[in-house]
Amino acid sequence: MTKRKIAGRKAVSAARIRVNEARHLMNTYKRPPIVFTRGRGCRMYDADGREYLDFLGGIAVNALGHAHPRLVRVIRREAGRAIHLSNLFHNAYQGPLARKLAEWSGLDRVFFTNSGTEAIDGALKLARAYAHAKQKGGDSESAGKKTRILALDNSFHGRTFGAVSITHTAKYRDPFEPLVPGVEFVRFNDVADLEAKFDDSVCALVLETIQGEGGIFAVDQRFWNRARELATQRDAALVADEIQCGLGRTGRYFAYQQFDSLPDITVVAKPLAAGLPLGAIIASEKFASAFTPGAHGTTFGGGPLVCATALEFLAIVEEENLLAQVRERGAELSAGLKKLAARFDFIREVRGQGLMLGVDLTCDGAPIVQEALRRGLIINCTHDHILRLLPPFIIRKRDIAEFLAKCEAVLVATSKMAVAESAKAIKLKATIQTQPKVMAASRQL
Ligand SMILES: Cc1ncc(COP(=O)(O)O)c(C=O)c1O
Repeated sequence: MTKRKIAGRKAVSAARIRVNEARHLMNTYKRPPIVFTRGRGCRMYDADGREYLDFLGGIAVNALGHAHPRLVRVIRREAGRAIHLSNLFHNAYQGPLARKLAEWSGLDRVFFTNSGTEAIDGALKLARAYAHAKQKGGDSESAGKKTRILALDNSFHGRTFGAVSITHTAKYRDPFEPLVPGVEFVRFNDVADLEAKFDDSVCALVLETIQGEGGIFAVDQRFWNRARELATQRDAALVADEIQCGLGRTGRYFAYQQFDSLPDITVVAKPLAAGLPLGAIIASEKFASAFTPGAHGTTFGGGPLVCATALEFLAIVEEENLLAQVRERGAELSAGLKKLAARFDFIREVRGQGLMLGVDLTCDGAPIVQEALRRGLIINCTHDHILRLLPPFIIRKRDIAEFLAKCEAVLVATSKMAVAESAKAIKLKATIQTQPKVMAASRQL
């Protein structure tokens, strides 16, 4: 495998790839010493040809797994036509894709971006632009005052300045301060706190319908309903970040469709073009109208290749009835994990919807992720103790059974390792405690 030629050049060995990365990449990721070279369906393969079962899906991106034949066909076709044309001109796919996203979301208009964080920053700009436009027509007293943004505790919205400013976790914010001013955080699902902070100076409330990076925590119905009411009363935008939980992941097109009302703006990205970079801001007519020609833009966003691929992704989800599959496989996975939780007392809770599940541990999750990888399972851990599972929508019943069996073996192995570690630690502690006494005794002599 390592000697295979890629694009006419001899493939670089995995060891050389790691050396180059260590020397020349900015040090932003802690990676295990594996180089993945290809994938097919729900499986990934490393440079030595070892197979792995992928329950992370490129962090909720590869909803159709790897190398889906229909996607490969569209990408080949469009790459031979035009990869990029420029947003100064129409292309064949933006309009149809925008129409489909409007249908799925219940909203009206779309702006295409290259990533989730750009969609979030664009949504913040849209909410501010709407507030500014309204105030121009209003009394001069309040002009410029409707600029505050509310977000939730434990949120994650991305890495650009606007997105970081509404992200709650300190490690993502602190090194980059000062951030965008005017942001305040509301306690998660705390209606009283929301009411106290939501006044006329607020232009947007941004929330993840289900927090992903935060550890799979869902906004509850009472909080959503009150957020909707307050946003309407105060003429502010309710913005649902569905970058991780949207586009089918929970078994609904959008996670907010479990509630009776719509947001004003939603943002999507991750699976939209099934692995190619594409995000979108989707808004109601009322808010969308605040963007006028020249107000916002992007060079790459919404090119023909990515939009054609996204259209194919949405068509496959519909034609293959994948939402029902997500719900069924999700229920099997959740039930299996709950059985494991009953056996292993370090599993505090299993939660989530569809194929977006979290396993909350009372211990450090890193050794479990490592052991899983050693046994050919790809999973992830967030906030040090919440295992996050985001498998592709095309996962089969037998993949779930295989995952659960391997997961059980991983949990047995790591709990044995933990027992051995704690026995070692107790022994070490005992040695340390006895040492000073020995020394003290020897001084007396
Ligand atoms: C809920 C949510 N919002 C925003 C983002 C940022 O998206 P991107 O990494 O595409 O910029 C993420 C990424 O994980 C996310 O999960």
